[in-house]
Amino acid sequence: MEHIGTGAIGRVYRAHAAHIDGDLAFKFVPIENLPSYQPDQDDYLEEARKANVLENQCVVPYLDVLSWEDPVLGREFVVFIRQYVWGLSLAQFIRANRGNVELRFIEQFLSAMFGLLFELEQRGIVHGDIHADNVLVTRSRYNLRGDVQFRVTDFKPTGHEQPSDYVAIALVLKRLLECVRYEEQELRDRYVFEILRNDFLGRHLVESDPTADDRALNPRRLQSKLDSVDEMFAVASASRGPEAAVRSVRR
Ligand SMILES: Nc1ncnc2c1ncn2[C@@H]1O[C@H](COP(=O)(O)OP(=O)(O)O)[C@@H](O)[C@H]1O
Ligand SMILES: [Mg+2]
Repeated sequence: MEHIGTGAIGRVYRAHAAHIDGDLAFKFVPIENLPSYQPDQDDYLEEARKANVLENQCVVPYLDVLSWEDPVLGREFVVFIRQYVWGLSLAQFIRANRGNVELRFIEQFLSAMFGLLFELEQRGIVHGDIHADNVLVTRSRYNLRGDVQFRVTDFKPTGHEQPSDYVAIALVLKRLLECVRYEEQELRDRYVFEILRNDFLGRHLVESDPTADDRALNPRRLQSKLDSVDEMFAVASASRGPEAAVRSVRR
């Protein structure tokens, strides 16, 4: 077993199950650290249940949740067993790539989050703790297009959630934008940077009143705007040139 991470409430280890050629992540949480733990109740399973009902490819599946007592210390643990994801957490990725994050990467992150938010909204589920340590970044060398993939884990049980997944995503977006070297970007990427900072971070993701902003809390509309940034840049550039197009969205 290899120690791979320590989160807010537990320690995570990677283990290789040789008989099935599988890599598993084991999160050991002392029961006193589980916010929803009560004897004879299984509310703490909800973290796994939430993840397992979701079909979105981002969500890391849980294979089992077990009780375990440390034979030496006699301490009681709950062990969450998940599929292991090869790669880095987004927090580790950010630390390793300050000043080097590309706009395409941020667009792919948002697109993955909007896809997840769409299913969450349809099912009436809240993740409740989206932040850079709970998002994993993985890039398979067998992926034909070489795209990065984002995987989300560590759902919070009902009643213990942070209120808004949208605001949580806005905070991650802010950190990612701080890792972009604006002056080194081509004009298309500067244009997209301005749209992400002024429109998505400044309004769409932090507004909770859909009558004030019709993209607020609306993953479909958020995705559709993200999909149209190239077209918006092309249209603005055609009428006044690319530099003026960037200036027109800068605030
Ligand atoms: N399935 C996994 N595959 C790879 N790394 C993981 C996996 N699950 C968690 N980790 C790593 O372990 C850290 C802690 O896991 P997490 O579930 O967030 O614990 P906590 O509930 O204590 O916050 C994560 O930030 C991540 O770096
Ligand atoms: Mg965590």
